[in-house]
Amino acid sequence: MTAILEVKEIITRYGQSQVLHGVSLEVGEGEVVALLGRNGVGKTTTFRSIMGLTPPRSGSIRLKGVELGGKKSYEIARLGVGYVPDDRRIFPDLTAEENLEMARRLAKKSGGPWTLARVYQTFPVLEGLKASKGTTLSGGEQKMLAIGRGLMKNPEILLLDEPSEGLAPLVVRNLTEIILQIQKSGVTLLLADQNIKFCRKVAGRGYIMEKGLIQYKGTMDEIWQNEEIVRKYLAV
Ligand SMILES: Nc1ncnc2c1ncn2[C@@H]1O[C@H](COP(=O)(O)OP(=O)(O)OP(=O)(O)O)[C@@H](O)[C@H]1O
Ligand SMILES: [Mg+2]
Repeated sequence: MTAILEVKEIITRYGQSQVLHGVSLEVGEGEVVALLGRNGVGKTTTFRSIMGLTPPRSGSIRLKGVELGGKKSYEIARLGVGYVPDDRRIFPDLTAEENLEMARRLAKKSGGPWTLARVYQTFPVLEGLKASKGTTLSGGEQKMLAIGRGLMKNPEILLLDEPSEGLAPLVVRNLTEIILQIQKSGVTLLLADQNIKFCRKVAGRGYIMEKGLIQYKGTMDEIWQNEEIVRKYLAV
């Protein structure tokens, strides 16, 4: 496995409170990897650390061998790390299409498989909504738009925070198909999600977090079959 993203022993704090206590993980080129764990274990903080939004106090984060530590978030984004936060942050007064176009302009990068046409092909629902303002979209539609926007930047790796959260079962099934299409397009994915049934369908490997540490890692089949681990760290 050629690692595209290597996170080593990162320690991250918000003010006085230390949240990540030495998190290490690796994502190979072309993989879909899940970061699992209950509420408040540090999944979002791990993503914020990778993006330089809450820079780690120590440890190392490398993208294709290039150290990201000390770089600004926009530089990290331009190097090819895409981030879809759980609160989506779409522009409410812009239409769906304007949101997508804006993402491409902000990326300042041309080329790559993801174009407006490809996004509409992958998310037919967005094509139907292209003239609708962000505020009028449902939560599920906003999630799709946020993922589409992330793809418009043609990242090497896309970090998706809680992609399946709050979606109806049918929409989750649809999202499963979409994630696999994204993987086929050559984009590597790291997703933070609590839904192990969803993760099992899309991810090859997973890391389980608790209390700011990786407690277990393995293939999604190994995780799924390990009842003790599932009960201890994941079951509701
Ligand atoms: N801005 C902040 N300031 C202080 N503490 C924070 C901040 N953001 C998160 N935390 C704390 O850091 C810990 C980890 O939070 P984080 O959001 O990374 O967890 P998570 O695994 O993403 O959880 P969730 O499932 O709720 O999204 C929690 O204890 C949380 O209260
Ligand atoms: Mg979170």
